[in-house]
Amino acid sequence: MYKAGIFAVTSFAVVAGMATFFIGTSASKADIDANKLYMTHCKTCHGEDGKTTELGAGLGARDFTDTAWQAKVTDEKILKQINDGTPEKMMPFKEKLSQDEVKALVPVVRGFGKK
Ligand code: HEC
Repeated sequence: MYKAGIFAVTSFAVVAGMATFFIGTSASKADIDANKLYMTHCKTCHGEDGKTTELGAGLGARDFTDTAWQAKVTDEKILKQINDGTPEKMMPFKEKLSQDEVKALVPVVRGFGKK
């Protein structure tokens, strides 16, 4: 009886520990502030509102508020563009950002088309 009690306490501690571990790892994903990432890495060319800045337009960047473009472009294309960039135009971000961060930016880009 006494032994079973210890066992129950120990397994509870193990389960609680695992729960904290999993909550801990999923929290880091939820911690990604995609809007802040956009403002840090993308705003200089694509603009705070998704409309290109002068610099971005000069390089040939597109207006993210263009609904015709939004309807045509796929999430895969957006992901690929952020990861690989375009030589001489947009730097690749795959070394700079984690894949979770790159994925989190897709809805931000999409969001500009909804306004
Ligand atoms: C140095 C300026 C610059 C920065 C910074 C920049 N981009 Fe770009 N981006 C461009 C240019 C220029 C193009 C057009 C590239 C082309 O025509 O191939 C482009 C294209 C894109 C496209 C594809 C549009 C299409 O036509 O399919 C997406 C999506 C995009 N950028 C997202 C981002 C995101 C997200 C960030 C931040 C992580 C970012 N860009 C940072 C300049 C920039």
